Amino acid sequence: MAKITASVYTSHVPAIGAALDLGKTHEDYWKPVFAGYDFSKQWMKDNKPDVIFLVYNDHATAFSLDMIPTFAIGTAAEYTPADEGYGARPVPKVKGHPELASHIAQSVIQQDFDLTIVNKMDVDHGLTVPLSLMCGEQDPIKGAWPCPIIPFAVNVVQYPVPSGQRCFNLGQAIRKAIESYDEDINVHIWGTGGMSHQLQGARAGLINREWDNNWLDLMINDPVACAAVPHIDYVREAGSEGIELVMWLIARGAMSDIQDGKVVGPAPKLAHRFYHVPASNTAVGHAILENVI
Ligand code: DHB
Ligand code: FE
Repeated sequence: MAKITASVYTSHVPAIGAALDLGKTHEDYWKPVFAGYDFSKQWMKDNKPDVIFLVYNDHATAFSLDMIPTFAIGTAAEYTPADEGYGARPVPKVKGHPELASHIAQSVIQQDFDLTIVNKMDVDHGLTVPLSLMCGEQDPIKGAWPCPIIPFAVNVVQYPVPSGQRCFNLGQAIRKAIESYDEDINVHIWGTGGMSHQLQGARAGLINREWDNNWLDLMINDPVACAAVPHIDYVREAGSEGIELVMWLIARGAMSDIQDGKVVGPAPKLAHRFYHVPASNTAVGHAILENVI
């Protein structure tokens, strides 16, 4: 059967993609950001998954205000990097996994979570920047991402957004779905976005290091309490775009220490943790958790 072996958490700052694509990674400003992912790139090689279930948010790229799915699963065979205004990022196309994605859609919808099924969409920095950070630079034509990817888009842009608790519960349903797929494959689940940032209004530029690091502690060590954090706390403490962090709870809820909303098994191993300010307008957070059972 399929198995979730690890979860990865990372910010998705678009300027990180631009720094990579424009060859600026060795500039003093960017060096410490990319240094935080040196471990991770080697870890990806040593722990290569068969499929990545990648939880991210679209930024009014594939979904405009015309259509706002709360949770959308990509069931396509291929996704094209989106043009977000400056041309598409020069990165490889994203290969999907229609069979596993369809199985997850069937299972999760039957577990009473209403997913939108997406057979065609472009993917923006929310998905491609985490891939670049974890997998390194790839030639857009001759290169490839290390494995098929199932994009799972969460609405954290237009209110009302799902709560951390709903995301945590959904992660548990996704794990059940993956574990009922009849093929011996290893799956990573990634939660992306965050950490504290606010891009508009009177508090534009807000960063809250103390809250971010306390939240990281909670997400790793006491996920049940972390899931109970109300959405207003994210917005008040981590800024309007800090709400992207609820997506990390989908990945955390899918880890094997959690069942029926409770901790039932040994905590996953923390393989790596990193935090850095600034990167563009955002605090960058990153963690890797490995299942021990
Ligand atoms: C920035 C961060 C984001 O998460 C985003 O989607 C767009 C911009 C920023 O820090 O500039
Ligand atoms: Fe964002």
